[in-house]
Amino acid sequence: MSMSSHQSLSDLIRLEIQKASGWLGFDRFMGMALYAPGHGYYSGHRSPFGAQGDFVTAPAISPWYGDCLARQIIQVLDTIGSDQVLEFGAGDGRLAAQILNYAEQIKRPIGYQIIELSAGLKKQQQDRIGQASADAFAQVSWLERLPDPGFRGVMLAHEVLDAMPVRLFVHRCEPQAQVQWFERGLGLKASGQARDDSPPWQFVDRLCDPSWAIRLEALKHACQQQWQEDWPDGMIIEWHEQAQAWIRSLAGVLEQGLLLLIDYGFPAHEYYLPQREEGTLMTHRQHRAGTEVLAHPGEQDVSVHVDFTSMARVALEEGMNLSGYCAQARFLMNMGLLDIASSWAQSQGNLNSVQAMSQLAGVQKLLSEAEMGELFKFMALSRGLENLDLIGFRQGDRSGRLGLQAC
Ligand SMILES: C[S@@+](CC[C@H](N)C(=O)[O-])C[C@H]1O[C@@H](n2cnc3c(N)ncnc32)[C@H](O)[C@@H]1O
Repeated sequence: MSMSSHQSLSDLIRLEIQKASGWLGFDRFMGMALYAPGHGYYSGHRSPFGAQGDFVTAPAISPWYGDCLARQIIQVLDTIGSDQVLEFGAGDGRLAAQILNYAEQIKRPIGYQIIELSAGLKKQQQDRIGQASADAFAQVSWLERLPDPGFRGVMLAHEVLDAMPVRLFVHRCEPQAQVQWFERGLGLKASGQARDDSPPWQFVDRLCDPSWAIRLEALKHACQQQWQEDWPDGMIIEWHEQAQAWIRSLAGVLEQGLLLLIDYGFPAHEYYLPQREEGTLMTHRQHRAGTEVLAHPGEQDVSVHVDFTSMARVALEEGMNLSGYCAQARFLMNMGLLDIASSWAQSQGNLNSVQAMSQLAGVQKLLSEAEMGELFKFMALSRGLENLDLIGFRQGDRSGRLGLQAC
């Protein structure tokens, strides 16, 4: 991203703060930093993915990742007699290419649709899927908006929820004082405070209205049923308002099938542990993680972990079912990743080659608890699949740990 577009995104944010009478909610800042047309991190022309970008996601770690997802998707499609897959935010198109490639190999046609907010990424997806297979490319279409209600098939959101803006609230409870709730936003620094190398805005907390305080107290009460400690003074609560609204809108569209959510995160009582008092917001730039979320808007990724309890809760409120929730390692093993890897290894003459070692290292990274195996979760939200035993969630299902009765 060029300096001038950086400056103009800063100008736009500054203007937005002024237009909002000097205080802009963090969610609106995050939305602009990621998606401001032409300037946001995901709306610019630079690709965030891969070695030259800022981060790597699972499909780039092993091609078998997409095979595992494809098997789960096809089980659902076969059950309901559909061929429709809808992927949100398809990144560099690698996962779509892997799923389509698997379907082509087993001769199972899929009508693959993608909703992509970024024009640059859409082009990248078209190039990658087209290069992988002309037949696969012919099965893909890009939608500008959600389909009409009546969708039957599988919806897929791979690391999409973590890129949705959150509201920030601050729990204040000085000793002896009553609890007070503030919302965290941005205000402009006084001219003397602004330095060239720091953003011209800073965090400003303002008392939140009583309806929010009631919701936040209810969340605290629900989580405290799992642990006895109070939240400390200054504890940050990330509220996934946009992600919740998004799930509600998908629930309105899905007539029969599966919404598969894949992301890093926890159930509410772990997400809002008193020890996690700083929250989970983080930045990624050139493969380095950081916490300076207000700096360099448009030039670094800003993401947040997912509170999976709240995702399941809104889906249930909309009449969907929770058909499974488990850690990534468990889903991939249920889908046979180790069998795929071991058949492949047996077919190889030399497992000491660089290519063989990198394939097997990829599997290790996806499964290892210390890497992605435990932090990343798979959640299956469904409608009209009551009698289907989803392969990916057969063993190690943790739906019971979401605390849905309490939260
Ligand atoms: C971290 S990237 C993940 C990309 C890709 N799925 C992967 O795993 O490599 C997050 C993506 O979610 C997309 N996104 C966020 N909100 C979205 C929405 N409401 N609809 C579609 N895509 C969305 C962003 O544009 C971005 O491309």
